Amino acid sequence: MTEPNTQQVHHIQPAELQNFVQRVLVGNGVPDDHATIVARCLIQADLRGVDTHGSNRIPSYMKRIRQKVLDPSAIPELKQVTPAAAIVDAKNGFGFVAAHMGMQKAIEMAQQIGIGMVSIKHSNHFGMSAWLVQQAIDAGMMSLVFTNSSPALPVWGGKSQLMGVSPIACGAPAGKERPFILDMAPSVAARGKIYKALRRGEKIPTDWALDKDGNVTDDPARALEGVMLPMGGPKGSALSIMMDVFSGVLSGSAFAGHVTGPYDPSKPADVGHFLVAIKPDLFMDLEEFKSRMDYLYQRVVTSDKAAGVDKIYYPGEIEQITRDRRLTEGIPFTEVEIANLNEEAELVGVEKLNI
Ligand SMILES: NC(=O)c1ccc[n+]([C@@H]2O[C@H](COP(=O)([O-])OP(=O)(O)OC[C@H]3O[C@@H](n4cnc5c(N)ncnc54)[C@H](O)[C@@H]3O)[C@@H](O)[C@H]2O)c1
Repeated sequence: MTEPNTQQVHHIQPAELQNFVQRVLVGNGVPDDHATIVARCLIQADLRGVDTHGSNRIPSYMKRIRQKVLDPSAIPELKQVTPAAAIVDAKNGFGFVAAHMGMQKAIEMAQQIGIGMVSIKHSNHFGMSAWLVQQAIDAGMMSLVFTNSSPALPVWGGKSQLMGVSPIACGAPAGKERPFILDMAPSVAARGKIYKALRRGEKIPTDWALDKDGNVTDDPARALEGVMLPMGGPKGSALSIMMDVFSGVLSGSAFAGHVTGPYDPSKPADVGHFLVAIKPDLFMDLEEFKSRMDYLYQRVVTSDKAAGVDKIYYPGEIEQITRDRRLTEGIPFTEVEIANLNEEAELVGVEKLNI
């Protein structure tokens, strides 16, 4: 969540970036309405400073379309299972589109009966989980957002990649204070941060990953050949298995190390997701809930600070501050990143980013 440390940075306004990403998506066969959803999700990540899961992912997603392992025009199919449960078959389309549809359905069920659960199968990567948490918050809902992903992490005691660096996310709206938004990979760092360091020619901290021989490394290329390190030892490994139980086993998608990696062109990814929306005023009235959330926020951020700490942040707060700033300043991209994006525009003959 750091700003690029190189001098060659250009700031692009979110509206311009949104139009650009939409053009490239449509140029690759994505229907207009789906392109709007995908672009909005990617730009939300860019705005929140989650650069690892924003527009820079466009080249790898477009490559999967060209490799015919991701269907750009798939229409996800939704089936109601019980009044509180539905399943979406993503039909190997964008995870963003299926998950957006799934969260919308979960919200509708929660509005009617208090809770809505949606299982999503045969999907693809949906980027930053927090956009789904935000979708629920915008509708006044609490949420759980789970996904599985391709092998990157050893299980505790293992040495090779088996489980995904699958983020666990959840959120709750507040009153006048900031909402609670937790969105975290079960590894010390998200794998996207290693791809970002590789893209930018940067080193990585030595506690993020091991190389293929099991040695610590600060080289992102060597780290990508090896394994990510789980956060909190067996606990990070267990959270990753939990994501697989709820997203993979339950949905009917790939699980147990069988989700296809984003750079493996041999077959569709077959990712699974699991989304829950919960009405916050089930057990008390809404105003009381919101004022309790506001009180919690205040208690957290005004807690006694440890030595060397200037400010205590609430989960999701740093990203919201970054968003507020980038909405006016624009989103920073290095020249290499812009060149990579413009290459995609050239491939489908649409207008490039103008810098
Ligand atoms: N779709 C996928 O398969 C996939 C896989 C891995 C990661 N991701 C995404 O990558 C992103 C980054 O994940 P990450 O684990 O590196 O996130 P992170 O470590 O940057 O943040 C994790 C959580 O900690 C909170 N946090 C961070 N610093 C804080 C501070 N100083 N004070 C208080 N709270 C703080 C953040 O608000 C966030 O909720 C996430 O958006 C995640 O969804 C997606």
